[in-house]
Amino acid sequence: MRVSDHVRRGPADVGATVWLTGLSGAGKSTIARALAGRPRLDGRRIEVLDGDELRRTLSAGLGYSREDRDANVARIGLVARLLARNGVLALVPVIAPYRAAREQLRAEHRAEAVPFLEVYVSAPVEVCAERDVKGLYAAQRAGRLSGLTGVDAPYELPQAPDLVLDTSRRRVAESVAHLAAALADRGLL
Ligand SMILES: Nc1ncnc2c1ncn2[C@@H]1O[C@H](COP(=O)(O)OP(=O)(O)OP(=O)(O)O)[C@@H](O)[C@H]1O
Ligand SMILES: [Mg+2]
Repeated sequence: MRVSDHVRRGPADVGATVWLTGLSGAGKSTIARALAGRPRLDGRRIEVLDGDELRRTLSAGLGYSREDRDANVARIGLVARLLARNGVLALVPVIAPYRAAREQLRAEHRAEAVPFLEVYVSAPVEVCAERDVKGLYAAQRAGRLSGLTGVDAPYELPQAPDLVLDTSRRRVAESVAHLAAALADRGLL
């Protein structure tokens, strides 16, 4: 067997940043983790850059002003881009509420010809508030928290997302399958 027979070619070698944007509780982390955990992807280099985890590390000290949110998105975007240009599929479940910051990410990826997909994980705010996984919506209602995206802080809707996953209408498995198909269509999976 020649050495080249061991070298994997094709989609498995192409990196990309897949940014999952949407309200808290929309299902971004759930979908990213489910995709990354697919047994079929065994061997694929894949990283989930989750906003919650990175706010404790990479973005420790940043708050929730527009400036700090933009800085958080820019830092995570940089890490994603570095991974993606080295063949990793970077799945990024991070709210990224401001359109300009998301467009900046797209431009930075385009400048290096690194694939970038904006995936809008969509669910009505009422559905997210009903799920209230972290208790944020209840805390906002009770006046213990302010600046909650989509409630008393802006969420600027994606104008031309590469994909929309409506989690109020699709089960997790359906969203994951849809995302996987969209990546496969683009030769990224
Ligand atoms: N159809 C669905 N798709 C995705 N998640 C769903 C669906 N139905 C219910 N859920 C639940 O909604 C919750 C979504 O929470 P998740 O942590 O994934 O949101 P998130 O978008 O990452 O929020 P945050 O921005 O706060 O991190 C999970 O508890 C998940 O089980
Ligand atoms: Mg999350």
